[in-house]
Amino acid sequence: MTASGLEGVVATTSSISSIIDDTLTYVGYNIDDLTVHASFEEVIYLLWHLELPTKEQLQELKQQLADHMELPPEIIESMKKYPLDKVHPMTVLRTAVSSLGAFDDEADVMNEEANYRKAIRLQAKMPAIVAAFARIRKGLEPVAPRKDLGFAANFMYMIKGEEPADIEVEAMNKALILHADHELNASTFTARVCVATLSDIYSGITAAIGALKGPLHGGANEQVMKMLTEIGSVDKVESYVKDKLEKKEKIMGFGHRVYRKGDPRAKHLKEMSKKLTELTGEPEWYNISVKVEETFTSEKPLPPNVDFYSASVYHSLGFDHDIFTPIFAVSRTSGWLAHIFEQYANNRLIRPRAEYTGPSMRSYIPMDERK
Ligand code: SDX
Repeated sequence: MTASGLEGVVATTSSISSIIDDTLTYVGYNIDDLTVHASFEEVIYLLWHLELPTKEQLQELKQQLADHMELPPEIIESMKKYPLDKVHPMTVLRTAVSSLGAFDDEADVMNEEANYRKAIRLQAKMPAIVAAFARIRKGLEPVAPRKDLGFAANFMYMIKGEEPADIEVEAMNKALILHADHELNASTFTARVCVATLSDIYSGITAAIGALKGPLHGGANEQVMKMLTEIGSVDKVESYVKDKLEKKEKIMGFGHRVYRKGDPRAKHLKEMSKKLTELTGEPEWYNISVKVEETFTSEKPLPPNVDFYSASVYHSLGFDHDIFTPIFAVSRTSGWLAHIFEQYANNRLIRPRAEYTGPSMRSYIPMDERK
């Protein structure tokens, strides 16, 4: 083990997603194919059942998610009591998920059927929590989900209060698929360690949200947008990036613990970011991003990761910048739940050892002899 983490150590087996030679697959399906052909609901089904759904199975899942998307009034009322101008939406999401557990009669019921029902309720309510808070802090009432909209469209509808354009739904659907699962990343490992004690699903997802919040993990996409805004124009990129590197500061959105040649998700988000400039008429965020990538990678062989281009995609879709990581969490909940099911099934505590580097054995020193 090195100081920066458990590089290369295998903590568990898993059949959900794999990263081999910089290729990412969900249960054997390449995300390049899934991003082009699938809906996010198909991917949720695939991650939870380890098979693509039939038409009937997909329809049933879509119906279940739509039926459980609306938030209980007590959750909405509690959100209105937070310090709206100060609290971060990831803090709200973490707290609301924990509160949902308090209101769920079967929160601590540990059997496959109950856990699946809880997974449906949690997955369905994640976008509703993010959307409701995004509106409440602007003094707007939450918008109830519509039964006739799919997951991606409903998420945007609940935030904006109007039906999104097809290109916006396409972008959100792709982004949700690309962020859904990623082997044993920090937040997924957090969820697994938590439920490996046989703790409940709400505890596992709450813990995972806490881990994803950090800027070295899911919080990076918000930091990328902060950087793009600080840079402001393409002609300022070179001096900004070189100054950061000279100060040994990290450029958010680049590097990855596992990928070496490149994060396969980045190309899809880069393409979507370019396509969305046609919708927004604001090419500068994409152009600045491309210039940052060119400048940074010419200095350091660290390609962009999933967070880099997702920033300009989410900005183009009109989301507040501190909502970017909650969007990541909405998608990754599908992966976290898949890993939680798998962890419950293999039912073993995860308890790694530490390499002790402290003082060797020594005798107790009475208080009056201490210096
Ligand atoms: C996600 O694990 C997952 O799967 C996560 C994720 C998922 O889908 O769940 O892919 C999502 O979290 C993506 C990563 C988002 N985070 C960021 O973009 C933050 C910026 N990136 C870095 O903090 C870093 O690259 C990490 C945390 C992503 C990976 O760090 P590592 O593998 O521990 O590498 P390191 O920090 O030990 O760095 C190795 C070297 C160092 O240089 P030296 O000290 O050896 O000279 O590379 C440098 C680092 O300084 N480096 C960077 C850098 N990332 C690494 N230098 C500048 N900018 C960067 N972004």
